[in-house]
Amino acid sequence: MKILFATPECAPYVKTGGLGDVSAALPATLARMGHDVRLLMPAYTGMRVSGEVLDTIELPPEGPWPAAQLLPVKTANGVTLLLLACPPLYQRNGGPYVDSQGRDHHDNAVRFGYLSRVAAALGTAASPCRDWRADVVHANDWPCGLAPLYLAQARPAEPTAASVMTIHNIAFQGMFPMYTADLLGVPHQWRGMDGVEFWGHVSMLKAGLQFADAITTVSPTYAREIQTEAFGVGLHGVLQARAGRLTGILNGIDTDVWNPAGDDLIPAQFTAQDLKGKALDKAALQQRCGLAVNPKAMLFGVVSRLTAQKGIDLVLRHLEPLLAQGGQLAVLGQGEPALHDALQSAAQANPGAIAATFGYDESLAHLIEAGADCFLMPSRFEPCGLNQMYSQAYGTPPLVSPTGGLVDSVVDATADPARGTGFVMATSDAAGFLEALQRAMQAWRQPALWRRIQANGMARDFGWEQSAAHYVRVYEQACERAEAA
Ligand code: ADP
Ligand code: GLC
Repeated sequence: MKILFATPECAPYVKTGGLGDVSAALPATLARMGHDVRLLMPAYTGMRVSGEVLDTIELPPEGPWPAAQLLPVKTANGVTLLLLACPPLYQRNGGPYVDSQGRDHHDNAVRFGYLSRVAAALGTAASPCRDWRADVVHANDWPCGLAPLYLAQARPAEPTAASVMTIHNIAFQGMFPMYTADLLGVPHQWRGMDGVEFWGHVSMLKAGLQFADAITTVSPTYAREIQTEAFGVGLHGVLQARAGRLTGILNGIDTDVWNPAGDDLIPAQFTAQDLKGKALDKAALQQRCGLAVNPKAMLFGVVSRLTAQKGIDLVLRHLEPLLAQGGQLAVLGQGEPALHDALQSAAQANPGAIAATFGYDESLAHLIEAGADCFLMPSRFEPCGLNQMYSQAYGTPPLVSPTGGLVDSVVDATADPARGTGFVMATSDAAGFLEALQRAMQAWRQPALWRRIQANGMARDFGWEQSAAHYVRVYEQACERAEAA
């Protein structure tokens, strides 16, 4: 199958969260399965890409979009990268979505409208790649949300690729003033409630949901949750109406990158059979973060965007019981200033016991997964979450809230002692966190029990193969619907 995977971010070139990891691993797995996969993403400032540039395809100016180029690059993992080079749109300081002050780029509608436009074009007869037209355009998150709409617009004049829209986080919807509908060429009849309109604005994510041949999200539990008012962030009605097209597919992890037996970013490698290296990594982590180097202190780890979603405030609220029992906490994160400040004060007040590192640091992220005893992830909502899977692979049982992909990937060790891989909070609030924290600390004091929980987690297969096969089935269904349309 010819698959176009359209995404605003992809590791290791540019990553702000889990979508970057998924964009690296899922297309590569599909290519290994024999599919012809191309990945479309913008060429941002400072991106370093290694591989052979195969061609330079000129894209003429169109509507609000200046002239651009499409640069196909053959990469080592079998995926052809299609870099969308348009310096006026993508070459600027800051991240993919925000400027260096953390404000949204003022022209995100045009920037990501273009990404969607080119993604859709690659699924039509006018595909800019000679001799290649996608069978499926797989659009990821709101920045690609207009791609299904543009494909629907090209039908029925011509048969086009099928479209699949994946929601990685429904909290981000890509909302813009209604006049952008004109700018981006959204047909008049699709500007109402049954189209892109959301509270008087254009919602790019809603566009994707309304027009896609199939919709997926990143875990089965989140697929159910987003159809409810509590989790749907206003789009639950749209999703209920399109429930027949919605599938939840749990993300996998890239086992070449996240594998304690072959991880070059940690000082000592280890396996489930021999955890000596993990003890060395714990000492290295304590040293690196300025914590007391003490194997007997239960060390909790956090690697996270610092936003309300991730529930870090619950951790901050329960430092007392953690510290009273000799526990330590190592946090790596970046995000909201209020959470930065609160973590910084906690670290200053508890030197040697709490350490907070701010910024983005891949190698420290690996060291925390490897060196911590227990990983904390009390998210208020979590579409899938990757860190709880990484931590299971690294013998670091996670403590998680009962939501989204966390429920689908962690087995509670108290409820199921034989198969347990971590600790699932009974409720997603402070009381639930405290209760699970007590259970985790109790279990850690029983070495045989703890080793079983570690071994159960390390034995789990979180590889991408099964999920990629599930995506292929969804692509096939989408193609059938597109043909019938
Ligand atoms: P989300 O996408 O909501 O942020 P995920 O758990 O799906 O959550 O993915 C987060 C990814 O980003 C993981 O690979 C995690 O290791 C990484 N990450 C998050 N914050 C940092 C950081 N400060 N430094 C390094 N890696 C980070
Ligand atoms: C989002 C979600 C996260 C998910 C990731 C990749 O950022 O917050 O839960 O794992 O996308 O799908």
